[in-house]
Amino acid sequence: MSSQTISPIPGQTTKKIEVALGNRSYDILIDSGLLQHAGTLISQLRPDVKCSIVTDENVAQHHLAPLQKALSSSNIPSEAIILPPGEGTKSFNALSSLVETLLSHEIERGDLVIALGGGVIGDLAGFAASILRRGVDFVQIPTSLLAQVDSSVGGKTGVNSNYGKNLIGAFHQPILVLCDLDVLTTLEPRQFRAGYAEVVKYGLIKNEEFFTWLQTNRNEIYALDKQSLTHAIQTSCSMKANIVALDEKEHGVRALLNLGHTFGHAFESLTGYGDKLLHGEAISIGMVLAFEFADKLGICKPSETQKVTAHFKAANLPTRIEDIPGAQEFTSKMLIEKMRQDKKVERGDMVFILPHKIGKAVVTRQISEPTLHDFLEEKLAIS
Ligand code: GLY
Repeated sequence: MSSQTISPIPGQTTKKIEVALGNRSYDILIDSGLLQHAGTLISQLRPDVKCSIVTDENVAQHHLAPLQKALSSSNIPSEAIILPPGEGTKSFNALSSLVETLLSHEIERGDLVIALGGGVIGDLAGFAASILRRGVDFVQIPTSLLAQVDSSVGGKTGVNSNYGKNLIGAFHQPILVLCDLDVLTTLEPRQFRAGYAEVVKYGLIKNEEFFTWLQTNRNEIYALDKQSLTHAIQTSCSMKANIVALDEKEHGVRALLNLGHTFGHAFESLTGYGDKLLHGEAISIGMVLAFEFADKLGICKPSETQKVTAHFKAANLPTRIEDIPGAQEFTSKMLIEKMRQDKKVERGDMVFILPHKIGKAVVTRQISEPTLHDFLEEKLAIS
């Protein structure tokens, strides 16, 4: 599955990647200016719809008015639901009140929910769309790098539970994803860096050449150079689209996208899913730990671990457990308890994504708890 170039915006070339899922296939478009043309793009797909836009207070400040203007210029009526920012919004309570508000907006089966925001808004609004009237269509307009390269693509939607992250949810594919490069200019640098960790993940799991390209081009990406940023987002989304088309419900290869996530989700859970540790920061540390663990198990060379650690450090991302606020309170027992709640647990056995080298990660089931315990004890003793 390769990306194509189209011209929905006069004078511009837009990258288009198809997520091939039969009659649920959809396009991811990558370009600047897509938000301003969202009305035209949506009305081409669904003429005569009405929309509810779900967003958060921070994103609304910058991007809600332009989106509503674009929709109304294509005669698409819309109402906005503005939620508090942050992972706390990805809760069952927020979901329940969102669904009631969508019903009060009289959003019908043929209408659309638009998720305008980062991963929290995309996951919550997508889940609400999946259960509203037993399923209405939704469009993702991701406004963070993390959402553009990962969470807006592939139909994972849901909310967090007290038992762990994303444990309540559904697969519900969007009908369109608009990755507008312009919206990244308003993103806080820390959020941008956290999203970059997910970009690196694609190189580490399956594409050594992309990792090498990132080593050379990271500065340009951080400077929002359009060409470099487009290449990074396009490569990430193409890889994700391929993986999702092969294994939509994560029975096999899709699990690779969770490299670093078993460790990472445990850290997020222990730090309360807040600003102390962003998801991308948690998985940056998690991916380094996955390399170190593979190294300890003798399946990956230490030189690979060093290259990965050096790249995350250069990218100003955390790489060690001790980089996490409050890490001195962590014990291996606490971490293992959290890991046991991971969605990948199969009949009580933890499933790890472990690298054999940069560009080759595998799903690994034969990890005994004492081996994991020893590894975590070693890591906690250093921190
Ligand atoms: N974020 C991992 C996945 O979508 O499968």
